[in-house]
Amino acid sequence: RLQAETRGELTSLVEEMISNQKVVKAFGYEKEAQARFEEINARLQKHGLSATFFSSTTNPATRFVNGLVFTSAGIAGALLAISGRISVGQLSAVLSYANQYTKPFNEISGVVTELQGAFASAARVFEIIDQEPETPDAPGAVELTEADGSVSFRDVDFSYSPDVELIKNLDLTVRPGQRIAIVGPTGSGKTTLMNLLMRFYDVDAGEITVSGHPIKEVKRDSLRSMFGMVLQDTWLKSGTIRENIAYGRPDATFEEIVEVAKAAHAHGFIMRLSQGYDTPVSEEGENISQGEKQLLSIARVMLTLPPMLILDEATSSIDTRTEIRIQKAFEKMMEGRTSFIVAHRLSTIREADLILVMNKGKIVEQGTHDELLKKGGFYADLYNSQFER
Ligand SMILES: Nc1ncnc2c1ncn2[C@@H]1O[C@H](COP(=O)(O)OP(=O)(O)O)[C@@H](O)[C@H]1O
Ligand SMILES: [Mg+2]
Repeated sequence: RLQAETRGELTSLVEEMISNQKVVKAFGYEKEAQARFEEINARLQKHGLSATFFSSTTNPATRFVNGLVFTSAGIAGALLAISGRISVGQLSAVLSYANQYTKPFNEISGVVTELQGAFASAARVFEIIDQEPETPDAPGAVELTEADGSVSFRDVDFSYSPDVELIKNLDLTVRPGQRIAIVGPTGSGKTTLMNLLMRFYDVDAGEITVSGHPIKEVKRDSLRSMFGMVLQDTWLKSGTIRENIAYGRPDATFEEIVEVAKAAHAHGFIMRLSQGYDTPVSEEGENISQGEKQLLSIARVMLTLPPMLILDEATSSIDTRTEIRIQKAFEKMMEGRTSFIVAHRLSTIREADLILVMNKGKIVEQGTHDELLKKGGFYADLYNSQFER
C-alpha cells in the first residue's frame, strides 16, 4: 500500500512538472524538481524493496508447505501400498490430484497481492470522487431568469482559510447600470470580491444579493449566466476559434461571430491564421498569444451580452494601442449594464460611477475620482504613484 501511495506521489510530481514545464524552466526550478523526484524515488525504492521482499517470501513459503504436504502424502501412500492396502495405481492417482490441488493456492496468493494494489489505487480514486466540488444548490433555489443589475453586499465576511482573515464586514450597494471600478494593490481582495459575487466561494457571514435575490437562494448556473466575465487568465477550450467565440451561444450565426470578433479587434489576427475562423485552438493555446486569447474571450462575452459584466484585469495582456481601440467596444457593451472592472489604467477608472479602493480585504474608500482625489487619502496616493496614465 505504501508502495502504491508513493508511486502516486511520484506520478503527480512528474505530471505537475511536465504540464508546467515553462514555468519550471522560467523560474529555474529544475534542480528542486530533480531533488524532489530523487527523494520520492528513494522512498519508492525502499517501500518497493520491502513489498517485493515480502511478496517473494510468501511464494516460496507456500511452495515449501506444499512440498512438505506432498512428501508426507507420498510417504504415507507408499507405506499403505507396501502393506497392500492400496494399489500403486491408486497411489499415483492420489499424488497427481494432490499436486493439482495445491495450484489454486499458489494462484490465490498471487491474486491477493494484486488485490492489495487495486485497493490502494481505488482508495486514491475514491478520494478524488468524494471531494465535494461545491455545496449543492439550496432545496428551494430559484432560477434567475433576468437581473436588473442591482447588487448588494451586507456585512460580508470571507476568508479562504480560517486562520487568514481576508474580507471583514464588507458593505456595498450597486445600482442597476452602474460602472464600478475596483482598484487596490495586488492581493487586496479584488478578485476575491468577484469570486464571491459569482459564488465560486460562499461567504462565511453576511449576505450578497443580486437583483434583490440572496445569491444563496438562486441556482448557481442561472446566477453565473447573468454575468459576462473576462479574466486575466483567459481560458479557451479545445476546438476552433469559431467554437470558442460561440461558447456561450452555440447557435450564433457566422456573421454574428465575425461581427463581435471585429468589435473586439480579434478579426485581424484571426484572418492571419492559416485556417481563419476554423483554426483549431489547442488545449494549451500555443498558437495564440496571451493578448489574442484575451481578445477572443472579450469577443465571447460580447456575443452573449449578459446583464452584468465582470472585467478582472481583462486588458492586462493587451498593448495600450489595441486597448484604446477595444475601449470603444467596451463602452458600447457596458451601456445599461452593471459592470465591475478591476483596472489599472486611469482612463477606465476615471469614467466609473463608483470607485472602490481596496486594501487588505477592506473597501477603504469609495466615491468618484474627483471626490477621492479631493479627500487626499489612499486613492490619491495610489493615483500619484501607480496608475498608468
Ligand atoms: N484560492 C485561494 N486560496 C487561498 N488564498 C487565496 C486564494 N485566492 C487568493 N487568495 C489570497 O487572498 C488574498 C486576496 O487575493 P485576490 O483577491 O486574488 O487579490 P487581488 O485580485 O486584489 O490581487 C491574497 O492574499 C491571496 O493570496
Ligand atoms: Mg486579481
